[in-house]
Amino acid sequence: MTTFQLTFYIFAAAFLQITLFSLHAFYRHWQVYQGVKNRLSGFDPALPCEPVEDEILPIGTVENQPAWAGLRKFQVISKVIEDKSKSVCSFHLAPVDGKLLPQFKPGQFLTFELKITNPVSKERKKVIRCYSLSDRPGLDHYRVSIKRIQPPEKNANLPGGLASSHFHDAVKQGDVLDVRAPSGHFFMEASNRPVVLIAGGIGLTPMMSMLNTSLQVKSSQEIWLFYGVRNSADHVMKEHLESLAEEHPNFRLQICYSKPLAKDELGTDYQHKGRADINRLRLTLALKPYQFYICGPRNIKLETIVPALDEWGVPDQNIHYEAFGPASLSKPKPQKSLIQEEKNGAEPVMVTFSKSGKTITWDGSSDSLLELAESSGVNVESGCRAGGCGACQTTIENGEVEYSQSPDFDPEPGSCLLCISRPKRDLTLVV
Ligand code: FES
Repeated sequence: MTTFQLTFYIFAAAFLQITLFSLHAFYRHWQVYQGVKNRLSGFDPALPCEPVEDEILPIGTVENQPAWAGLRKFQVISKVIEDKSKSVCSFHLAPVDGKLLPQFKPGQFLTFELKITNPVSKERKKVIRCYSLSDRPGLDHYRVSIKRIQPPEKNANLPGGLASSHFHDAVKQGDVLDVRAPSGHFFMEASNRPVVLIAGGIGLTPMMSMLNTSLQVKSSQEIWLFYGVRNSADHVMKEHLESLAEEHPNFRLQICYSKPLAKDELGTDYQHKGRADINRLRLTLALKPYQFYICGPRNIKLETIVPALDEWGVPDQNIHYEAFGPASLSKPKPQKSLIQEEKNGAEPVMVTFSKSGKTITWDGSSDSLLELAESSGVNVESGCRAGGCGACQTTIENGEVEYSQSPDFDPEPGSCLLCISRPKRDLTLVV
């Protein structure tokens, strides 16, 4: 081979390489350009070909905005009993308008506006209740799982929970319900970080949404569920949980029975006798930067596990929690330092409930005006207790309030949401 030929081949190879590289770069830029063009023209081949309505967003909820305004009609497409004691029933709901079903964040809840006749007073009234979504987003229906609230043990003659009894006894397949858009600030963000879910009783429902969401994407995310319940009679979605644990090696199921029945088998029906408490967590979990999600009755879960995790050294930003009261969610207690600050503050303010004829000093020991009203014997409606449903909306006659978090529900001018409000100065409320 001559020098001329060798030089020719070297230049030809270099030219070929540059040409191929340029073509590849052009093709990639062309794809990006087409994607931008499609999005600008409103057509994205990745999205379903459904007309997009102004009032209903097709994908997810925009931060701090409900996926639809006001109430939307949903039909009960099926009812499914979820435990042996028949105390928990799931309701599968499809939108009556047949339009696209917006997504939500796993852990959020739906708000229902019901018309119920009180069995004692026979009065028919509007009742607002919030129930966690208990399945993953992305299906053609929503699911909520509702526990029937029993009358207090010492007073079995009293009626049980008004709304939960209504759902269990009166709501049938085919019925239509008024529902507000998914909302709530307790949810699991998409990530691959290791997660520990801790559920007590019906606190399982938002955890089911988180669990089903995480496992559906077939990620390798390490996810634990500690589920505390009395025994197999109250064990909700038992078969589903067991099949998830069998199918997904990254999912570790830890069932804790506090009062197992004679037929309940340790190691088969449940893994631990006792509660899902901090000792159980410390004995079971490795030292890892877990994200903890906790939901259950306030007195059992929040007042013990949250401070215990804190003492264990889990950073605040890794602890997420929500409390269940009877048929409602409750927002977390403010940090002690905030209460202390208010107690140390100069001027206590006076809160007057004008219809009830009560004036109470706000000393900062209540989380919200709703709690102050309840502890003072003032009757106030509530639902989500987290600024999402509007049940506690109350007219302000005089004074001013501030919110501890931004409301998801838009209160009418001149009114406030008591569950997330505190008085800024002396206040008169029409209640
Ligand atoms: S109770 Fe739902 S907004 Fe206050």
